[in-house]
Amino acid sequence: MHHFTYRDNELYCEDVPVRLIAENVGTPFYLYSHATLKRHFLAFDDAFEGMDRLVCYSAKANTNLAILKLFKNLGSGLDIVSGGELYRGLKAGFSPDRIVYSGVGKRVDEIDYALEAGILMFNVESLEELELINERAGLLKTKAPVAIRVNPDVDPKTHPYISTGLKKNKFGIDGKAAIEGYHAARQLKHIKIVGIDCHIGSQITDVKPFIEALQSLKDLIDEVKEMGSKIKYLDMGGGLGITYDNESPPHPKDYAGAIAASLKDVRLKLILEPGRVIVGNAGILVAKVLFRKSGTGKEFVITDAGMNDLMRPTLYKAFHAIEPVARFEGPQITADVVGPICESGDFLALDRKIADVKRGDLLAVMSAGAYGFAMSSNYCSRIRAAEVLVKDDGFYIVKDRESYMDLVKGESIPPFLEG
Ligand code: LLP
Repeated sequence: MHHFTYRDNELYCEDVPVRLIAENVGTPFYLYSHATLKRHFLAFDDAFEGMDRLVCYSAKANTNLAILKLFKNLGSGLDIVSGGELYRGLKAGFSPDRIVYSGVGKRVDEIDYALEAGILMFNVESLEELELINERAGLLKTKAPVAIRVNPDVDPKTHPYISTGLKKNKFGIDGKAAIEGYHAARQLKHIKIVGIDCHIGSQITDVKPFIEALQSLKDLIDEVKEMGSKIKYLDMGGGLGITYDNESPPHPKDYAGAIAASLKDVRLKLILEPGRVIVGNAGILVAKVLFRKSGTGKEFVITDAGMNDLMRPTLYKAFHAIEPVARFEGPQITADVVGPICESGDFLALDRKIADVKRGDLLAVMSAGAYGFAMSSNYCSRIRAAEVLVKDDGFYIVKDRESYMDLVKGESIPPFLEG
């Protein structure tokens, strides 16, 4: 459930007409509902009621400072994958001891930054990384808390680009090598083993792969404990899917219930890293129809939002429902909804049944709160969209639309090119 609803055929976000925001802010813009974000976070967290857990919202899904702050205020921790996300997290007020850091390619400066901040743990993805973290912690005269990210080799049955827990994926360390990693970590003076971690993929619509992964982690936990290492945390990663079209993912309660059942004899604090399930359906992208045109046997709806604003359709062939902001009666058309960029991959939808919209009409691209703005770019020197947060009957610009000045920020012309 979300707070994007029609009243008298006009789309509202909570109590604000979307049209009103477009008139004030221009298009395209991302629009988030505070009530939905809050509800989704609390529904997820409450699903684990009674279990010792820390929900660490996965920043990468939507890194806007206002959104980070909102989750921080609700008691969330944070899952990060870069120094930039750490910077944002600290700026939003997250306590470093509620921040977990994953990623196969952590740089020295990023490791140092996280060590200096004093994060909860590094989810280590290779033996070389483990050694580097040990070395840097030694130099900084500290001990680095680590978990090893295990690659449990389970098939999450999702898009191949967002599967991460298969043997062939670059993520984590396979079970046997992970045990060697724990042995190695025990010998490293500046490493403190605190946990075990996995993340098998994203947009997963069945609990089975999660439980399968948990099973292999449980076997490893026993082995690690037998070594004499005291681990405190079991980090399950994120990955729970949402409904874009007609998927029926498990409710967080069913997901939590299955995890609880599988974990009943494991006394570790559970860490969860949900991203999409919290923010995905709490945001939309609003675009304007620039032109209509008919090709040979094809209808095109050309909008002012393109693949640089929302990459998911072209990158994953992802489905996003597209609705007119002002609904009207009449026969529908089948059209490609495309952006202004000079690539055939620049589409929001292909062969889509859609209202017979015309120049100037506003469109809402639904379920765009996760991996929407966060993956947007300046390709074709297009300025990135504004972001707006609605709460009740008020709206707040939480990121200004970029300007042409922003586009060239930091660029310079060396003197030898000046005439
Ligand atoms: N934890 C780790 C270590 C991750 O790599 C990810 C996502 C998450 C948590 C959050 O996963 P979620 O709960 O959102 O599924 N750009 C793609 C999704 C990439 C996901 C990458 N990792 C998309 O637009 O579908």
